[in-house]
Amino acid sequence: MILLTGGAGFIGANFVLEWLAIHDEPVINLDKLTYAGNMESLAVLQGDPRHIFVKGDIGDAALVSGLLERYQPRAIVNFAAESHVDRSISSPEDFIQTNIVGTFRLLEAARSYWVGLDMAEKTGFRFLHVSTDEVYGSLGPADAAFTETHPYQPNSPYSASKAASDHLVRAYHHTYGLPVLTTNCSNNYGPRHFPEKLIPLMIVNALAGKPLPVYGDGLQVRDWLYVADHCSAIRRVLEAGKAGEVYNVGGWNEKPNIDIVGSVCALLDGMHPRPDGKSYREQITHIKDRPGHDRRYAIDASKIERELGWRPAETFETGIEKTIRWYLANPGWVADVQSGAYRDWVDTHYAGAATA
Ligand code: NAD
Ligand code: DAU
Repeated sequence: MILLTGGAGFIGANFVLEWLAIHDEPVINLDKLTYAGNMESLAVLQGDPRHIFVKGDIGDAALVSGLLERYQPRAIVNFAAESHVDRSISSPEDFIQTNIVGTFRLLEAARSYWVGLDMAEKTGFRFLHVSTDEVYGSLGPADAAFTETHPYQPNSPYSASKAASDHLVRAYHHTYGLPVLTTNCSNNYGPRHFPEKLIPLMIVNALAGKPLPVYGDGLQVRDWLYVADHCSAIRRVLEAGKAGEVYNVGGWNEKPNIDIVGSVCALLDGMHPRPDGKSYREQITHIKDRPGHDRRYAIDASKIERELGWRPAETFETGIEKTIRWYLANPGWVADVQSGAYRDWVDTHYAGAATA
């Protein structure tokens, strides 16, 4: 079996659902269930003996060691993190605790478990760390996309904490020989994405008749990948990646934020027209920019394509349509995640946002 962390979050939940749809290998899912963890995303697995859910913190060394001893997994896949850049700007402490201290504790537990394995198990064991393109910093308009050897230049407390975790993972390979793998992926979108992030926020706000808040001029560029393609890349790296290596994951799909918001509006205009017949674009509002906002990210995915033969299955056009269909078909999921804690964040973060 494998031990996965953060499997009640956006990417982790999609990964667990896909994993169990294509394998019978059980998953131990360790998740703290922060505001971002959502058991409803995993509701279809209720009663499925292949999914062992454990509520807990990756920073709880005794808990993690106990799980490793009890279940003897062949791999750990670490999704658990505080993941929202805006929250890292307003309250960075949790990012340091989970992303840095938590990853360190998980690595320590993995190391003591791994040294006790027999030679064959030791050789086959993998610690896969799921990371982000944001560790590389921001690109100028004409710069080449990030390769795996691009210098680390993290600009937000979130990306700095992920960069620190990547360095720890790398050091545990270099110093102790722990067979680690690191993936650095670009922006994901798709079903079960918490509506504090750009694409799901735009979908749920549009449908609720609320403003669509675009930071600054909206010309910041992100490189978008459908979540199922990120999950297939992680499966491929786990299966065939070389221990100690880093793989950048992306779909060569750079787009300015304002175009993303425009695409969401255009699709909703066709699939779920506004009662007044006007376009959802009317709801776009430019607001004050994010402090220290990275201007452009772009992933060079040549290495994973060349060495592991991975390719994304979705284009942005097919992926965004699937995403919007999912949100239209799952209003109950949306209503449930928009709980008190979610409303508090939205009220505080957007209420004081001056129009740009
Ligand atoms: P998310 O915020 O949706 O989910 C994070 C999950 O981790 C939640 O279920 C939460 O409860 C859990 N968690 C948080 N702290 C924990 C702790 N201390 N112990 C155990 N569980 C804890 O995040 P996501 O968007 O699914 O991202 C997953 C991973 O992928 C993160 O490591 C993130 O840095 C990385 N990543 C995300 C993206 C993206 O676009 N979303 C892109 C590249 C990489
Ligand atoms: O690049 C990978 C990263 O992508 C992941 O590591 C992070 O976990 C993930 O949250 C995401 O970070 P971003 O900051 O790029 O994602 P977010 O959805 O918050 O914002 C995307 C872009 O949209 C960014 O340029 C900020 C802008 N934005 C965001 C929000 C929430 C807006 O213009 N308005 C908004 O209300």
